[in-house]
Amino acid sequence: MQERRFACASDELEPGTSMTVPGDPPVAVFRNEAGDFFATADTCTHEDWSLGTDSDLDDEEVTCPLHMARFDIRTGKPLCFPATVALATFEVEVAADGRVYVVV
Ligand code: FES
Repeated sequence: MQERRFACASDELEPGTSMTVPGDPPVAVFRNEAGDFFATADTCTHEDWSLGTDSDLDDEEVTCPLHMARFDIRTGKPLCFPATVALATFEVEVAADGRVYVVV
């Protein structure tokens, strides 16, 4: 069964930044430079690192600082080694009142 989990108010997440939404599983929410929201699994598929909490976001490309794997936040697809497995992706809903939810 799907869960609609509150992430943040849209104006709390600046473009070019990310956050972790705790829960099972934890979810990384990213905001690109255009202001659009994307959500993926929070944990890097290479080893154990929280991408929502500590990563480098360059528009739709996130780099894990631990071993420099890169992922496309729109698809979860790994873009370089050492990651070879895609991140799960999740739907993001922005309500009329500006509250942001992830559907997990
Ligand atoms: S843990 Fe992310 S690249 Fe190794």
